Amino acid sequence: MLDHDQLVQEINALPTYAVFGRVTSVLGMMVEVGGVERRLSIGGRCRVITRGGKPVPCEVVGFRGGRALLMPFGTLDDIGLGCRAEVAEGQASIYPTQAWLGRVINALGQPIDGKGPLPTGEVPYLIKAGPPPAHARKRVGAKMDLGVKSINTFLSCCRGQRMGIFAGSGVGKSVLMSMLAKYTEANVSVIGLIGERGREVQEFLEHDLGPEGIARSVVIVATSDEPPLMRRQAAYLTFAVSEFFRDQEQDVLCLMDSVTRFAMAQREIGLSAGEPPTTKGYPPTVFAELPRLLERAGPGTGVGTISGLFTVLVEGGDMEEPIADAVRGILDGHIVMERKIGERGRYPAINILRSVSRTMPGCNTPEQNALVGKARRLMSAYSDMEEMIRLGAYRKGSDAQVDEAIHYNPAIEAFLRQGKGERSTLDQGYAELAAILGGAG
Ligand SMILES: Nc1ncnc2c1ncn2[C@@H]1O[C@H](COP(=O)(O)OP(=O)(O)OP(=O)(O)O)[C@@H](O)[C@H]1O
Ligand SMILES: [Mg+2]
Repeated sequence: MLDHDQLVQEINALPTYAVFGRVTSVLGMMVEVGGVERRLSIGGRCRVITRGGKPVPCEVVGFRGGRALLMPFGTLDDIGLGCRAEVAEGQASIYPTQAWLGRVINALGQPIDGKGPLPTGEVPYLIKAGPPPAHARKRVGAKMDLGVKSINTFLSCCRGQRMGIFAGSGVGKSVLMSMLAKYTEANVSVIGLIGERGREVQEFLEHDLGPEGIARSVVIVATSDEPPLMRRQAAYLTFAVSEFFRDQEQDVLCLMDSVTRFAMAQREIGLSAGEPPTTKGYPPTVFAELPRLLERAGPGTGVGTISGLFTVLVEGGDMEEPIADAVRGILDGHIVMERKIGERGRYPAINILRSVSRTMPGCNTPEQNALVGKARRLMSAYSDMEEMIRLGAYRKGSDAQVDEAIHYNPAIEAFLRQGKGERSTLDQGYAELAAILGGAG
């Protein structure tokens, strides 16, 4: 016999899940559930109870032969035929608060920084919300100081702008992201680390971002060894948290490293659910999900904004690669980082000439546009002749414009260099550039 207290405990422990089905097959990463097909829809949640009694959260990713196909947020260990699959009601949401600042969380919104439990707010935020309605959306706001002078001056971003950072591995993405997170004038940085190795995440947090950077950020992490559903959801969560701070009338800087790994997670999910592969093995849902995800950044319908900078992996500078190509079409500009530039010791290794901010001419003063225009002309003239100059095949005096470009090149290169501990403001950047070029002209 149970005593009274024990009975109450047992009743409290009873799941609130009323409807349940049974596992009918397990194949690869996929669990097939029968008996509840009509209660489920794509994106719906279940928890499958392992033989040992442990609940494993799962999501519906498809239907086949009258059964629901589920993928797990954990491992499928200890799940077998006949295991109970309980249907969860409602859509997945989180309850963020200001107190999330300074915290590191996983894709399920659980703290992973050892700093104790995460406080919960009052308002639910859908993990997979849609973007604000296009007609009610404000336009991008005034220029935002990002604290990195090459971007501030040559690739200025406005509040609510979305930019891609296109780079290969080891070119300096993480360091640049940490500089942006630390030095931006935006009040809050929300950083999604999707699909990196665990060691890299630690390095980023401790080494690049550091305590001062973490204090003004919320970091969402799903490492490469986590199931694809976790990696994908970490990306959704990055936006859900950004949306919370935007609704607090803050300017939010949303950073995600990398969109490519989000696309790869969606590829794994889509292919497992039986979608056909198209370009480079990416199934159609990848190209449907990308705009749905990235459109969540931008101006809101109120005062707050989400400015986004998202990294895209491009090996060997291949900007035509399908994810790079799709992302470039969605965003308001791109920043291209090149290994060659890093190798000659200039960091951040941004190729200004190949990068563009689509809002920029409109948000600059005529003086600023003239200054930036002059610097770009000089860089372009230098870049055209670079090989010749290096080979010693260019004779000084042959072309006045090239002579001028050669004269200014060292100073411009020095200007574009910025150590990771160095902060620069918008005004400083323009003043420095003006001092180098002796005013516009
Ligand atoms: N601003 C900088 N100043 C000096 N060195 C830098 C700077 N940015 C990057 N580096 C150098 O480049 C290296 C690689 O940078 P980082 O880890 O940011 O690259 P990544 O693109 O994130 O690499 P991965 O693809 O492996 O994630 C750093 O270890 C550092 O030596
Ligand atoms: Mg990195």
